[in-house]
Amino acid sequence: MNVQAYVVRDEQRPPDNALLQVVQRGLRSQPKRLPSWLFYDERGSALFEEICEQPEYYLTRAEIALLGEHAGDISEVLGPDVRLVEYGSGHAIKTRLLLEHLVTPVAWVPVEISSEPLRLGMERMGQHFPELPIQPLSVDFTRPLRLPVPPRAPRRTVLYFPGSTIGNFDEREAAQLLRKMRGEMGDNGGILVGVDLKKDRATIEAAYNDSAGVTAAFTLNMLVRLNRELGCNFDISAFRHRARYNAMVGRIETHIVSNREQRVRVGRLQVLFREDEAMLVEYSCKYSLEDFAALAAMAGLTVQHVWTDPAGLFSLQHLTRSNAG
Ligand code: AVJ
Repeated sequence: MNVQAYVVRDEQRPPDNALLQVVQRGLRSQPKRLPSWLFYDERGSALFEEICEQPEYYLTRAEIALLGEHAGDISEVLGPDVRLVEYGSGHAIKTRLLLEHLVTPVAWVPVEISSEPLRLGMERMGQHFPELPIQPLSVDFTRPLRLPVPPRAPRRTVLYFPGSTIGNFDEREAAQLLRKMRGEMGDNGGILVGVDLKKDRATIEAAYNDSAGVTAAFTLNMLVRLNRELGCNFDISAFRHRARYNAMVGRIETHIVSNREQRVRVGRLQVLFREDEAMLVEYSCKYSLEDFAALAAMAGLTVQHVWTDPAGLFSLQHLTRSNAG
């Protein structure tokens, strides 16, 4: 494996007292809310992979089908000598499908804050592409990145942000993140972003309420994590998962709902939950092509190409800098 300076640095992850502060602030706010990155401890990451295998969760299969169909075309559009910077854990088959078609890629730079998914991803990718330089960054991709010096000059830097992870951010945050990416990719750079598309409510809601209950376990695992890492005493069986599509704003809103009135210890704080009180833990925004073009424009970006899977469920969009903006 061709790995440059593989040092796992977790220092950007909030230390435990910062974690406690994040959680206390979220539970003191009205309505209560907790950030969705809290899902991804080791168990949460494994459960997410399991979600991707559920028949109702169409996103991953659609994105893989899309790449199967269009990866050659995408690579032609991106051109040779690309430096591929991937936002989020790059252990998936998707990155492989893309890299297989890229002509003489300069490097793959996975940006992943959790050290275990990062390590796994690098291992798998290194096995498939023994010649490919890998330059990992173990940091939070929502912060400004300092990209490592590439082994040779890339023709362009492409920020690859698959999986519709951008859907976890509300519109303001998503525009901010795209604006930040615009700066990082440079004048000649581009963004390749996976965007889940608006469709009928039943299809979307089923994807976040799989019948095997994996998504529910994924959601409630956040409380398991808080019990372990912060010594909270959430009674997991006294809360439930709820994911509903808000068609007005085009997003899945996932809540953890209290089954009864109860008190929970969070550090020195006693948090009161009313019966049926709902705590917001995730948005998964869905876009029409027009919606997303408008969002990109807010960030000074223009949509150059859109690819979709054969069923038209999911899109991969290539963004470059707008002339103005
Ligand atoms: C990883 C953010 C794309 O929102 O669809 C899956 C996470 N949450 N099921 C999504 C998730 C519940 C997923 N993303």
